[in-house]
Amino acid sequence: MSTAQKKALVVGAGQMGSGIAQVLATYGWIVRLVDTEEKQLERGKKRIEESVRKLQEKGSLPDDKAHILSRLSFFSSLDAAFQDDAEMRSVSLVVEAIVEHKEAKRALFSELAARFPAETILASNTSSISITELASDLPHPERVIGMHFMNPVPLMPLVEVIASPLTAEAVVEQVMGMARELRKTPVKVNDFPGFVSNRVLMPMINEAIFAVYEGVASVEAVDQVMTLGMRHPMGPLKLADFIGLDTCLYIMNVLYEGLGDPKYRPCPLLKQYVAAGRLGVKSGRGFYVYDDHAR
Ligand SMILES: NC(=O)c1ccc[n+]([C@@H]2O[C@H](COP(=O)([O-])OP(=O)(O)OC[C@H]3O[C@@H](n4cnc5c(N)ncnc54)[C@H](O)[C@@H]3O)[C@@H](O)[C@H]2O)c1
Repeated sequence: MSTAQKKALVVGAGQMGSGIAQVLATYGWIVRLVDTEEKQLERGKKRIEESVRKLQEKGSLPDDKAHILSRLSFFSSLDAAFQDDAEMRSVSLVVEAIVEHKEAKRALFSELAARFPAETILASNTSSISITELASDLPHPERVIGMHFMNPVPLMPLVEVIASPLTAEAVVEQVMGMARELRKTPVKVNDFPGFVSNRVLMPMINEAIFAVYEGVASVEAVDQVMTLGMRHPMGPLKLADFIGLDTCLYIMNVLYEGLGDPKYRPCPLLKQYVAAGRLGVKSGRGFYVYDDHAR
C-alpha cells in the first residue's frame, strides 16, 4: 500500500488531535478528524490551517499546503465520518486524543473495538492513563497501544510508544515505523503510571506550583529560575498553561493513585485553578493571561 493511500481516524480535535491529524496529513495519510463539539472542530480546523501556512512560509513542509489540507476531513460523529463498513475497513490507524478521563476513553475504546476490524491499530494519545486498563476488556487487546505525541505536535520530535503487556510486538514495530514515517523519533516505554515523560515532567511542574503556593517566589520568578538557570526553553508554569491545567491535575491524580506515594499529591493551588476554570492557554487564563494572539 502506498503512503498516499493510508487512511487514519483521529478522535478529538483539541490541541493534540488537530496536531496529530495535521502531521498525518502532511506525510500523505488521508485523515478523518472527529469531535463531538462543532466549535472544537472549527477551532481545530483553523489551528491546522494556520500552522500549515506558517510551516509553508518557513519552507519546512514536504508537500504543498493545499494538498495537505485536502487530505483532511472533519466530522461531528463516527456515524457521519463513515458511510459503510468498507470505509471503516480501509482505516489502518485510529488515534484517540479526547479528554484525559479514563471512563470517557474506555467508553470510546469499546465503541472503536466493536466497530473496527481486528487489524486496525487503536492508539491512545493519553498522557497518563493505563493502556492495559484501556485494552483489557476489549476484543483483540493486542492492537491497542499508546502513541503519545508531544505538544505542539507539528514541531516536537518525540513519540513515546507505550506497550502494554497485551500489545503485540508486531503492533509496536508497526507504530514505531509509522512514527518514523511522520519524521518523529519513537521511544518505546512500558505501561506504568505517567510512562516516562509525565513521571518525570509532571512532579516538576507540581513542585513549581507548590513553590508559588507556599510563597517561595512569584510565578514569573519560578519560570525565570528554570529558563535562565536550567536552560529550559519555557518555565514550568508557562508549560503547565500550554499543556492545560486540567490535564496536569488529571495526570498528577493518576500518579498519586497509581503509584500510591504521597510525593505525587497534586498542589491545592492547581486544584483551585482548575475548579475556577483557569485552565491555561485554552481558557485564556492560567498562571498567565492569554489573548487571542498568544493562543
Ligand atoms: N495538552 C498536552 O500538552 C498534551 C500532550 C500530550 C498528550 N496529551 C493528551 O492528549 C489528549 C487530548 O488533550 P488535548 O490537550 O488535545 O485536550 P483538549 O481539551 O484540547 O481536546 C480534547 C477534545 O476531545 C473532544 N472530545 C471529548 N470527548 C469526545 C468524544 N467522546 N468523542 C470525540 N471527541 C471528544 C473535546 O470536544 C475536545 O475537543 C489527552 O488525553 C491528553 O492527556 C495532551
